[in-house]
Amino acid sequence: MARPVFGKTYKEITKEWDEIALVRLNQIENGQDLSFTHVITPCIFEMLSGCDLSKVIDLGCGTGALTRMIAQKAKHVIGIDISKRNVELAQNASTTFSNIDYINIDIESLSSKFIEASFSTVVASMTLMTVLNLDQVLQIIAKILKPRAHLVFTITHPCFWPLYWNYAKEQWFNYHKEIPVEADFKISLDRKERGVTTHIHRPLEKYVNSLTEAGFSIEKIYEPVPSEEIQEKYSGKWEYPRFMGIKCILTN
Ligand SMILES: C[S@@+](CC[C@H](N)C(=O)[O-])C[C@H]1O[C@@H](n2cnc3c(N)ncnc32)[C@H](O)[C@@H]1O
Repeated sequence: MARPVFGKTYKEITKEWDEIALVRLNQIENGQDLSFTHVITPCIFEMLSGCDLSKVIDLGCGTGALTRMIAQKAKHVIGIDISKRNVELAQNASTTFSNIDYINIDIESLSSKFIEASFSTVVASMTLMTVLNLDQVLQIIAKILKPRAHLVFTITHPCFWPLYWNYAKEQWFNYHKEIPVEADFKISLDRKERGVTTHIHRPLEKYVNSLTEAGFSIEKIYEPVPSEEIQEKYSGKWEYPRFMGIKCILTN
């Protein structure tokens, strides 16, 4: 059941991700997270095509499953996450990689950690809908990126996630507003309630306008869906896209 939770703090959000860190590591490693494997990760790699992978930062890297895949193609990857537990698990799972560094830090503190224009590409997979202040975060990303470098990210689809997660018709919901939503964390192949996480519903125009204001131009938008064969593994067919990918370039 999804509910609005105004006033949630990063301390509370961090605790939520800490608490499900081990569950997430196992779900992804065991192939239980169909969307991670068959929808979101392929979309990220399609967006990364043509990007400069000499120095990549993976924002909200979780337990590092995607970071490790990026590291197979990139020269150097830094994975950062607000959750200490996620970073510990990511480090333990990445000991064979000499080109990954993990840091337990929030995106909001990155500009004090790295000099301007440090990175050739920024990846943020399923992270930007969890940050409390999108404008602030995009401005920080713009600072740490090199000019004409790419930001690629995936998010829950702003138009369809409220339908999929069954809160589009709730009285408290208003598509046009930013609303922090707390919900039980469940995936299709693991229906147990594994904890609670919070995401911020934002209208699509908020993402587009905030990107523009931070100096980005959108190159391409993606609405990935799994193949028919993979869709059969989910409990029901996909009637609409559940996720969105955006590839942008820093132009200003
Ligand atoms: C939905 S998970 C995505 C994890 C991973 N990218 C993946 O695709 O499996 C969101 C991640 O963002 C992290 N996160 C949320 N807010 C953050 C912030 N302000 N700074 C850094 N990490 C944050 C959470 O701890 C969590 O690991």
